Amino acid sequence: MYAVILHGGQGTRLRPLTHTGPKQLIKVAGKPVSQWVLEQIRDAGIKDVILVLGDNTPKKVVDYYGDGSPFGVNITYVYQGEARGLADAVYKVKEVVSGKFLVYLGDNLVPYDLRKFISFKGSASILLANVDNPNRFGVAVLKEGRVVKLVEKPKEPISTLALVGVYAFTEEIFDVIEGLKPSWRGELEITDAIQSLIDEGKEVDYEIVQGWWKDTGTPKDILEANSFLLDRYAERKIEGEVKGSTVDGRVIIEKGAVIENSVVRGPAFIGKGSKVINSYIGPFTSIGDSSEVIDSEVEYSVILDGVRIRGVSLMDSLIGNNSTVERGKKWQKLIVGENSTVII
Ligand code: DAU
Repeated sequence: MYAVILHGGQGTRLRPLTHTGPKQLIKVAGKPVSQWVLEQIRDAGIKDVILVLGDNTPKKVVDYYGDGSPFGVNITYVYQGEARGLADAVYKVKEVVSGKFLVYLGDNLVPYDLRKFISFKGSASILLANVDNPNRFGVAVLKEGRVVKLVEKPKEPISTLALVGVYAFTEEIFDVIEGLKPSWRGELEITDAIQSLIDEGKEVDYEIVQGWWKDTGTPKDILEANSFLLDRYAERKIEGEVKGSTVDGRVIIEKGAVIENSVVRGPAFIGKGSKVINSYIGPFTSIGDSSEVIDSEVEYSVILDGVRIRGVSLMDSLIGNNSTVERGKKWQKLIVGENSTVII
């Protein structure tokens, strides 16, 4: 069985971070969002993975994942280019897949055992979750245990069961995509394609996710995903050097990292080759690779790679690769893109 992970889309709500890379590669709890997805798929026993690339620096995705062997999977790349909708992205894998296949949006995180989901009956299966804000998603209406209707971003409150970004299909999906017309937002919607299956009298299976899931579309979502993943998966592992410091609880300090004269409270992640000096790193914080935090306090934040932070107190902050943040007052809230400098 193949699994398809989508890496296209514009990522407008995550600008400026997505000016220089696809949103699926933003790291949370030490790994790109789509790596969490890829490992979940691998752990469900699927080894053949297709990454569908968009037009936002697709080379970064290929450079990161290569042929998949470091991650224990075989990767095939398919190019979608411009984001013409999820159904368009799915159609692009027509010549590669055969039989049943899984599709996972590369910006969604659904820690859920996929094994049950992939042994579905009928023509397709959808993963659903109850939400308070269904108008932000596609939703499904169930009647007597069957999926009877799907609507993308409903204006009327017809259901609170949102489509989580994980789908399973048979090759029948390609026939209905061929008959689709673009939606009001100008995209070929996968929600409409699945509705066409229902209209043709085909069975669409479903599962309801009870636990946490996240569409990481906004900075707030990234911070929440980071905090959830650290809380759920971080186990204490100190491979870096700790000098004159207190490191409390479930903290991961990777090789080559140095913690000096500082306090780190878990759950937290400090990436390879990073330095934390005269600083406090509070719970639910991830620091990427080769970053520096000096004379600072950082809590509930995501600091990406190659970042320099000096003399500041940050909370609820998301700092893009190779940025500099220097000196400031207490608890500033910043969203900074790559190669930026902020001096306050
Ligand atoms: O997050 C779940 C929701 O995802 C579902 O409830 C909706 O039914 C579904 O349409 C989708 O809605 P979004 O508006 O959140 O989709 P978005 O445009 O953010 O794209 C989702 C992912 O798919 C994202 O990783 C980008 C990728 N993508 C998107 C488009 C439009 C592509 O790879 N190619 C595309 O053409």
